[in-house]
Amino acid sequence: MTLAPVSPSLLATLPGRMYTDAGVFAEEQERIFESLWFCAVRAADLERPGAFRTVQVGRESVVITRTRRGGLAAFLNVCRHRGARLCTEESGEVRRNLQCPYHAWTYDLDGRLVAAPNLQRMPDVDRGERGLLPVRLREWLGYVWVCLAEEPPSFEETVVAAVSERLGDPAAVQRYGVDGLALGRRIRYDVAANWKLIVENFMECYHCATIHPELTEVLPEFADGFAAQYFVGHGAQFAAEAEGFTVDGGGGFAPFAGIAEEQDRRYYAITVRPQVFVNLVPDHVIVHRMFPMAADRTVVECDWLYAPDVVASGADLSRSVELFHRVNAQDFAACERTQPAMASRAYRAGGVLVPSEHHIGEFHRWVSERLRPGPGPQGSSPA
Ligand code: FES
Ligand code: FE
Repeated sequence: MTLAPVSPSLLATLPGRMYTDAGVFAEEQERIFESLWFCAVRAADLERPGAFRTVQVGRESVVITRTRRGGLAAFLNVCRHRGARLCTEESGEVRRNLQCPYHAWTYDLDGRLVAAPNLQRMPDVDRGERGLLPVRLREWLGYVWVCLAEEPPSFEETVVAAVSERLGDPAAVQRYGVDGLALGRRIRYDVAANWKLIVENFMECYHCATIHPELTEVLPEFADGFAAQYFVGHGAQFAAEAEGFTVDGGGGFAPFAGIAEEQDRRYYAITVRPQVFVNLVPDHVIVHRMFPMAADRTVVECDWLYAPDVVASGADLSRSVELFHRVNAQDFAACERTQPAMASRAYRAGGVLVPSEHHIGEFHRWVSERLRPGPGPQGSSPA
């Protein structure tokens, strides 16, 4: 078991204004969420040709479609005529084309401008030039990841490596067959807290003994305050008396066929910066996607994924969903309790990272380095 690398000097949190300042948030949108790979939707949400879903990525609305040929495409959700938002619904299905609700310019599912009223009388409108602006897209773990950057960072080096480095083995996540799992339940949380508070909370377990009674029953080592992700490759072991990862420790479902012996009866947690958390347990996978909406508001969509036959059988998923739903509710309540205090003069210079939270300092450093130099995290005004 290897300790995740930390610098002993990383003892302070970010100052409070990093969680409240609209200017900091705008910069994070530009330099983090619009610059890195962003996990947008589950590909199976767009099952049939014509299905679309819109998501907020940084300051942009992005529409993702299932094309007629069965592929996936992503575009800025902006009509090229006068800029109306093209798809106003969060999700839907069209027969063939997307039509702007303003003057009815019509685009096919690959983004090409295919029709507009009086188009034949507008010789200066070059159809080929006026298609929807494409957004780069990758499919991995059954999710559609998009990147708004002109030159996206390597998906392998930023997303795939984050998972394999945490698990200490590039093959480990593949054994769960996440891309082939079926959605058992999705819950959306509207959290009145800055996205970084949610990341920090997910990364540490110093709070587990205080606020997660059900989780620490199933994962007793969490009561000691050291999160699984404090250690490279470490999965937290289930309590001897726990039959499964459920709210009452009762039995879950059959473990995934592909997982290794050392992955059975263990819980792994992975943070994929900037906005994804993955939890792996033997019979299901939990994926959180965060959508930062404002400095003090983050929407979190949480998916519980199971073997397709489990979902198809209509099995009762409630005890397995309930465990992490409670954990989410407990965590988000804690984040919401923290958010108002970020604006307090008591937190101007920030707080403290105790030893079991030191790995969060590396996250703070990462955020700071992505933002423009200047009055950054260290530049807090004196209390
Ligand atoms: Fe879309 Fe005019 S703004 S058709
Ligand atoms: Fe927690």
